Amino acid sequence: MKIGVLGSGGVAKVLASGFLKHGHHVKIGSRTPEKLADWAAENPGGAAGTFAEAAAFGEVIVLSVNGKAAADALGLAGAANLTGKPVIDTCNPIADAPPDNGVLRFFTSLDESLMEQLQRQFPGAHFVKAFNSVGAPLMVNPQFDGGRPTMFICGNDEAAKESVSGILDQFGWETADMGGVEAARAIEPLCMLWCIPGLLRNEWAHAFKLLTK
Ligand SMILES: NC(=O)c1ccc[n+]([C@@H]2O[C@H](COP(=O)([O-])OP(=O)(O)OC[C@H]3O[C@@H](n4cnc5c(N)ncnc54)[C@H](OP(=O)(O)O)[C@@H]3O)[C@@H](O)[C@H]2O)c1
Repeated sequence: MKIGVLGSGGVAKVLASGFLKHGHHVKIGSRTPEKLADWAAENPGGAAGTFAEAAAFGEVIVLSVNGKAAADALGLAGAANLTGKPVIDTCNPIADAPPDNGVLRFFTSLDESLMEQLQRQFPGAHFVKAFNSVGAPLMVNPQFDGGRPTMFICGNDEAAKESVSGILDQFGWETADMGGVEAARAIEPLCMLWCIPGLLRNEWAHAFKLLTK
């Protein structure tokens, strides 16, 4: 598939490289594409451009930007370039205030997630929450003795979620579909839980797994 990755941070680069590794075509985007020159040099199969160029290129979009700037980045990408496409939303609504004894602070409430705000602002895009509750180094083919970890996803469009489940399968995850966009109210705070061991004890090498009978 053709993947348009919006972002120039650690998550965007790791996922962009992961898509290339799994045989997809990738264009990664930034407001300043020059800052992706190193990534492009290390990933000769990929290309870098603006947010709008990456979004226009992708059949599937990955949104990996600062949560506070997510709507602005999507605006720069252009609503028309998102319409009808799965948008994998890795973003977390982390506030500027420092963590409280290892617990991150969010600028959203438990009654409205960031992804619900984005879905409302860009109704033509098919947002799917994924990759938000694990650190970037573990996103692509993580190895754990306990087997495949679980990625919790949600979103309103079934076909988009099916497409993202296929990607997660390639990337070495099992998928737990938690339903519609409102479930992001529960999935986004998994980031807070995931970060606590890291912020308190500098332990970052874990992932969630859902056990079922
Ligand atoms: N770091 C992790 O391990 C991790 C794990 C799971 C989820 N996440 C979430 O994934 C997202 C990406 O995280 P990250 O650490 O890779 O990167 P980040 O530092 O949170 O975000 C960097 C990106 O945000 C964009 N950005 C910042 N201000 C902007 C503005 N005013 N308008 C438009 N774009 C703006 C930057 O665009 P330019 O390229 O134009 O500068 C850049 O691409 C975040 O929401 C984070 O919470 C992170």
